[in-house]
Amino acid sequence: MLVLGIESTCDETACAIVRSGRDILSNVVASQHDVHASYGGVFPELACRRHIDVIIPVIERALDEAKVSKKEIDLIAVAKGPGLIGALLIGLNTAKGLALGLKKPFVGVNHVEAHLYASMMHQESPILPAIGVVISGGHTFLWHIHQLGSYTLIGSTADDAIGESFDKVASMLGLPYPGGPAIEELAKLGNPSRFPLKAGRVKGKPLDFSFSGLKTSVLYALKGANAKRQAPDAITQEEKADLAAAFQEAALGDIVDKALLATAATKSRAIYFGGGVSNNRRLREIFVERKEEIQETPVFWPPCNLSLDNAAMIAGLGYHYFIHQGGDSLDLIPSTRISLS
Ligand code: KG4
Ligand code: ZN
Repeated sequence: MLVLGIESTCDETACAIVRSGRDILSNVVASQHDVHASYGGVFPELACRRHIDVIIPVIERALDEAKVSKKEIDLIAVAKGPGLIGALLIGLNTAKGLALGLKKPFVGVNHVEAHLYASMMHQESPILPAIGVVISGGHTFLWHIHQLGSYTLIGSTADDAIGESFDKVASMLGLPYPGGPAIEELAKLGNPSRFPLKAGRVKGKPLDFSFSGLKTSVLYALKGANAKRQAPDAITQEEKADLAAAFQEAALGDIVDKALLATAATKSRAIYFGGGVSNNRRLREIFVERKEEIQETPVFWPPCNLSLDNAAMIAGLGYHYFIHQGGDSLDLIPSTRISLS
């Protein structure tokens, strides 16, 4: 079954052609980083305008690269949320138009669940029950995965998403957007123990996250306790690298701590990662360094072309939705916030 997937939840316009949930024939992503760079984060109105401009050429390129015609497509899958409302509407309406014009079924897919599916996509049978960790620009979630389609939310963030905090700290340090890769690069030059930083705790909820205090600690380290110095020029390049390393170590260490705690608490057999922050090499290294705590529990990562927003994960998961529940009606509306359970 050939599925055409569309993803437009935030600042990537993407289309992919995937056969039967697994074989990726094409995976085209048009990033908008150039549009948002000077704002230090995503500017929603500009994101929508760019989606409108590029969505049709992106779909045409995905079909070309897969060497399939529109008529050969069996199903249209589209990210229905969570995401920016205007951006979601563009993807959803394009998908509906295609489905109507081609007389093919269509299905709306949960973007967060698709991030988790990305690290299972190439496995014949995922190791379950497992812990799913979604860490991206908009989300920080721990899920107990019972089986594909059946989840319990066991941890989330009380304030900023982890990727958002990477982006904000990067902006404080004068680094470009998106901040995650820039912080990772700078942190390689730094000494993480110079600044004693810690991620927050949420009272009574040991699996929840809090990154806003960590972000404020970076601000104080940068500007002095009364926030009077002019950031980011007030500190040396070496101090900046140390601060980036300390922030990264605190944020990623917290993710690892809670993923391990959740695995033990639920007696899970594996950990699956998804979302842009799982691209971070230091995160993967921390797991290797802490292999005694992990014992035999396998940790699965999305391949690098599937960790950031992409449509292959949408098309792949859309296939399973369709097989199990059939398609959606053309009345389907997008949701800026949707849960898995
Ligand atoms: O999954 P994604 O493409 O979009 C959302 O669904 O939000 O994730 C984008 C986020 C950004 O915040 C970006 O800074 C972060 O992922 N990111 C990283 C790295 N690469 C991307 N964070 C840390 N280290 C990285 N190497
Ligand atoms: Zn995403």
